Amino acid sequence: MPKEFKLQHEQDVCIGCGACVAVAPDFWVMNEDGKAEIVNGKHISQNLQELELDEIGPNKEAAEVCPVNCIHIYEKGKKKI
Ligand code: F3S
Repeated sequence: MPKEFKLQHEQDVCIGCGACVAVAPDFWVMNEDGKAEIVNGKHISQNLQELELDEIGPNKEAAEVCPVNCIHIYEKGKKKI
């Protein structure tokens, strides 16, 4: 069964401010290029990372605080943020 939520990150847009890591440290880390990474996220293309989740948890706040809006949340296939 597909999971309720999908988290996406546009890594080419990320400016590495670290706000996502600050609000959702279980889901986000900074990589050696100074960009955020979704923990256990899969790269669906070079600059796009994705993770399916049953609960969105603090990732909603991460998407809201990201200054360049490169974190996206889909609920049941519909874009929320
Ligand atoms: Fe990047 Fe936005 Fe996080 S700029 S480091 S994804 S808050």
